[in-house]
Amino acid sequence: MPILPAYSIDFVSRSPEQTRRLGMRMGTLLKSGDLLCLEGDLGSGKTTFVQGLAHGWGSVDAVTSPTFVIVNQYRRAGGGLMHHLDAYRLTSIDEAIDLDLDDMLSGGILVAEWAERIESVLPADRLVIKYAWLNEEQRNLLFIPVGERYKKMLDDFKRLAFGG
Ligand SMILES: Nc1ncnc2c1ncn2[C@@H]1O[C@H](COP(=O)(O)OP(=O)(O)OP(=O)(O)O)[C@@H](O)[C@H]1O
Ligand SMILES: [Mg+2]
Repeated sequence: MPILPAYSIDFVSRSPEQTRRLGMRMGTLLKSGDLLCLEGDLGSGKTTFVQGLAHGWGSVDAVTSPTFVIVNQYRRAGGGLMHHLDAYRLTSIDEAIDLDLDDMLSGGILVAEWAERIESVLPADRLVIKYAWLNEEQRNLLFIPVGERYKKMLDDFKRLAFGG
């Protein structure tokens, strides 16, 4: 038996819709300043999760994969910004520094795909979500909170998504 970090949630999603629905539940809990680090294989469901996340948060903009533009911005009625970053194609830490991630966090939410590539320029407190490809239809999602804010968020999420 692998030992899970405290407060974490380990879950197998059985469809893209289920992954989106989980994202949607979490989206309702997000606040300006929140940092979500999405890690894991190509095609493991990170962008699919963000589609639900943005919808649940109230985005008026559609989610697309920011692979080529690096960062997408989504707005919601009544104010607020969500920054959707894809670090896959960043080739150096200097490029990551140039993105002014601190500014993004002071003015909104930051959701970073391939966050493991820019680890060193991100604040320590964060919600880490590790995605793994199991088979065509199944993905493993492991949620790990770092810091009090994210333990609380994950606690609320557990209740909201699983009724636990
Ligand atoms: N249970 C599932 N959860 C999420 N996606 C699934 C699931 N089953 C199948 N899929 C499919 O897997 C693909 C996931 O693609 P997605 O773009 O979300 O991955 P990604 O992790 O963002 O990849 P990349 O690293 O290239 O950005 C989609 O085509 C989706 O329909
Ligand atoms: Mg993606």
